[in-house]
Amino acid sequence: MDKALILSQVANALTTCSSLTALEKIKADFLGKKGVVTELLKQLGALSAAERPLAGQVINELKQAVLERIEACKETLEQAAVTAALQRDTIDVSLPGRNVALGSRHPICLATTKMVDFFKAAGFVVMEGPEIEDDYHNFTALNVPEYHPARAMHDTFYVNSPFDVKLLLRTHTSSVQIRTLETQAVPLRVITPGRVYRCDSDLTHTPMFHQLEGLVVDKTSTFADLKGLLLAFMQDFFNQSCEIRLRPSYFPFTEPSAEVDVRCVLCTGTGCRVCKQTGWLEVLGCGMVHPSVLAAAGIDTREYSGFAFGLGIDRFAMLSHQIPDLRMLFDNDVRFLRQFS
Ligand code: DAH
Repeated sequence: MDKALILSQVANALTTCSSLTALEKIKADFLGKKGVVTELLKQLGALSAAERPLAGQVINELKQAVLERIEACKETLEQAAVTAALQRDTIDVSLPGRNVALGSRHPICLATTKMVDFFKAAGFVVMEGPEIEDDYHNFTALNVPEYHPARAMHDTFYVNSPFDVKLLLRTHTSSVQIRTLETQAVPLRVITPGRVYRCDSDLTHTPMFHQLEGLVVDKTSTFADLKGLLLAFMQDFFNQSCEIRLRPSYFPFTEPSAEVDVRCVLCTGTGCRVCKQTGWLEVLGCGMVHPSVLAAAGIDTREYSGFAFGLGIDRFAMLSHQIPDLRMLFDNDVRFLRQFS
């Protein structure tokens, strides 16, 4: 047996060993059941009793030495694997971070929220109604019978209807007034923000826009309450003291009816492009609910009266942010929308 030769064979095998699997193979070659060192041990039996202890000791020392080298190699390989894994998973902490793009609320959403907050604080409840509406709730029940000229003024989108009733895209949120009167007990105070549709498109009109309707029915509702409420609302919305004026007007569902102007919130009345040099901005329609509208809903008009108003949310948003073209609100250009974040 040449101990030095065997050890140099082990050393040779280990220098080219690059994986733990290869190392297992080397270990088996030398220390396994049929390994070189094991074979030597097997031959001990053939020696005389006098030679055996010394030979045994030499082979055991050899076995120990082989094992130590293999273990050392194993440690080196494992260490290298850890280093490689660390290198592979390295994070460059000096890289700039990835930005998470944060959205912002749409100016119409902001305006609606501000309005709803004001009216909620004044005791109003939010009501919603369908955007595909029937002819009865959008017109007839609001005192606009068929062939009434007011129907023609509304540029209505009609929808093919599989039913007996005529269907349309609601032209105003006043339809929700009727649905409220049908389902809620008086006294009541509701606001109904929502989308409405008219076949119209230019600088100040889009086929879809937003309205907010208000309705109060009580034993003591008066025109003075209506005016006071609208003034308070205007000051809250525009964040400034406002002056309003009511001009007589006509709506089939209110009597008397009025158009409300607010002193121009941009030039405070001196005259500018937005108020067309008049000093006033026309912002909403209102009036005392027509007795026939209340009566049709089964409300005793000797006991109860009501007032209502309707405004264009988009117009208010345009005025408060000085947006020149209504269509910008619906173009979804992020450069425009980002300004409201
Ligand atoms: N519905 C009307 C429109 O769209 C606005 C309106 C006027 C609503 C007077 C009202 C009201 O409730 O009383 O032009």
